[in-house]
Amino acid sequence: MEHESVVAILGAGMYGTSLAHVASFEKKSKVILFDILQECIDDINKNHKNTKYHPTITLNENVTATTVLSEALKNATLVLCCLPVQVIPDVIENNKQFFNPKVPFCACSKGMIVSKKEVRVRNHKENTRRRHHFLRVVWTFLC
Ligand SMILES: NC(=O)c1ccc[n+]([C@@H]2O[C@H](COP(=O)([O-])OP(=O)(O)OC[C@H]3O[C@@H](n4cnc5c(N)ncnc54)[C@H](O)[C@@H]3O)[C@@H](O)[C@H]2O)c1
Repeated sequence: MEHESVVAILGAGMYGTSLAHVASFEKKSKVILFDILQECIDDINKNHKNTKYHPTITLNENVTATTVLSEALKNATLVLCCLPVQVIPDVIENNKQFFNPKVPFCACSKGMIVSKKEVRVRNHKENTRRRHHFLRVVWTFLC
């Protein structure tokens, strides 16, 4: 069957698989998932399942999967990115030649890229000190 659209989904985890399942109900679409986990890719291609993330769902026939990003992107008419945010810069940088700039790229990931050097989590004592300072400022203002 000739597919009218090819949806490439990066990340065959909980969210990527869910979106693949929804997208596959459009029978004229082909959905191709990309992930590094070979066991999930094999499960999808052989059993139409991604047991690790969605044990109860049986995926439609038009959902396939690959560990090769260039293969997933080859005929894509839409790219949905469902990777953990921390890996996205490297995945894109290392494979930028395979992304077609004319194909819509939809970022479905959320979160922040953090490194321990950049993020400092305040402890309880510091939080309390800041709260007291804030209250003192408010009190001074009101008086
Ligand atoms: N789960 C949700 O309900 C939900 C909803 C909205 C947005 N999101 C966002 O979607 C993204 C993924 O969430 P999730 O819940 O599916 O996570 P998940 O851990 O279930 O899936 C992530 C998948 O990415 C794969 N992966 C990791 N590094 C990779 C790499 N370098 N190359 C290829 N594949 C790689 C993992 O093998 C895994 O299968 C997150 O940014 C999350 O915030 C999730």
